[in-house]
Amino acid sequence: MIQFAIVGCGHIAKKHVEAIQKAPGAELVAVCDTNPQRLQEYVTEYGIKGYTDLAEMLQDDSIDVVNICTPSGYHAPLAVQAADAGKHIIVEKPIALTLEDADAIIEACQRNGVKLSVVHPNRFRPAIQVLKGAMEEGSFGKLSHANATVRWNRNQEYFDKDPWRGTKALDGGVLMNQAIHNLDLMIWMMGEPEEVSSFSATRLRNIEAEDVSVGVVRFKNGALGVVEAAVTIYPRNLEETLSIFGESGTVKIGGPTANRIETWKMESYSDDKIADLIATIDQDPMGKPGHQCIVEDMVVSIKENREPVVTGEDGKKALRLILALYQSAEENHPVRV
Ligand SMILES: NC(=O)c1ccc[n+]([C@@H]2O[C@H](COP(=O)([O-])OP(=O)(O)OC[C@H]3O[C@@H](n4cnc5c(N)ncnc54)[C@H](O)[C@@H]3O)[C@@H](O)[C@H]2O)c1
Repeated sequence: MIQFAIVGCGHIAKKHVEAIQKAPGAELVAVCDTNPQRLQEYVTEYGIKGYTDLAEMLQDDSIDVVNICTPSGYHAPLAVQAADAGKHIIVEKPIALTLEDADAIIEACQRNGVKLSVVHPNRFRPAIQVLKGAMEEGSFGKLSHANATVRWNRNQEYFDKDPWRGTKALDGGVLMNQAIHNLDLMIWMMGEPEEVSSFSATRLRNIEAEDVSVGVVRFKNGALGVVEAAVTIYPRNLEETLSIFGESGTVKIGGPTANRIETWKMESYSDDKIADLIATIDQDPMGKPGHQCIVEDMVVSIKENREPVVTGEDGKKALRLILALYQSAEENHPVRV
């Protein structure tokens, strides 16, 4: 069994617990939180060892992997500390809030010869997997452009739950916290971005970072991209959509969380093949829980000594795009990524 421990016993850590419990070959052995009350809730509910001091937990040689589930601005020091103790790392998104912090995590994992995976679980969604397959087959021909749209609602209550939410130092705004999933997918499909231009605003929520952002991207391959991200949508989540347009293909993956095929037109696919594809996805649009896919992938990557599917460099690519969008919005000019 590969033994896991979690740092940060908050909201998302519950998904990590469930993922570890369900993943074959994985076992949860310990949790850590600086808040004794939150720690106690997890210790009581899951019957595992709890620590308020990470250094103490890291002395446990049986722990193979540490999952970092703290506020985003704290990911780097904790991940580096755990990697330096020889633990493999799964870090929640965003990998970090600065490129320096992302590099510190990547370098610490390389230095210690441990695996690093970033939680971008939407890559494992069935509709996204078939879209990636079509991209890799070259079925779109020459790419025209992509559109990443996140029209969600996070109300003021959500931000008021914890003091770190919506702050620039520990969280970031809609791009860094919510749209990062869709932007990771857009980069995964379209390749690396070269230049961006963006506007951001804080319109409806009482937070420091942006609650709405619009931007455009030029990718290194010459194709273009459009980004619309908001947590201001009344009264609830409307959609998360990723659309890709090429000379011989048009695909729109939509639904509330980019999990349903809304349009699939492709020269090289027969009508029957497309109907089958849509019917299969419709039967199970979410697929296996994404966090479980990330944990299972870590188990296999340790056993087979291969790279995880979502690497630290992947996490850094999404971060780099978002930081360029922020810089463009702040300085009011296009920015090279
Ligand atoms: N992948 C996803 O879909 C997804 C969804 C939600 C949140 N997240 C990410 O997960 C992270 C946590 O978000 P959350 O909503 O669970 O936050 P949260 O506030 O609910 O939980 C964070 C926990 O970390 C603890 N903590 C803070 N500093 C610590 C430290 N130094 N050592 C140990 N514990 C510490 C806090 O006491 C708290 O219990 C963020 O990076 C967020 O972006 C990812």
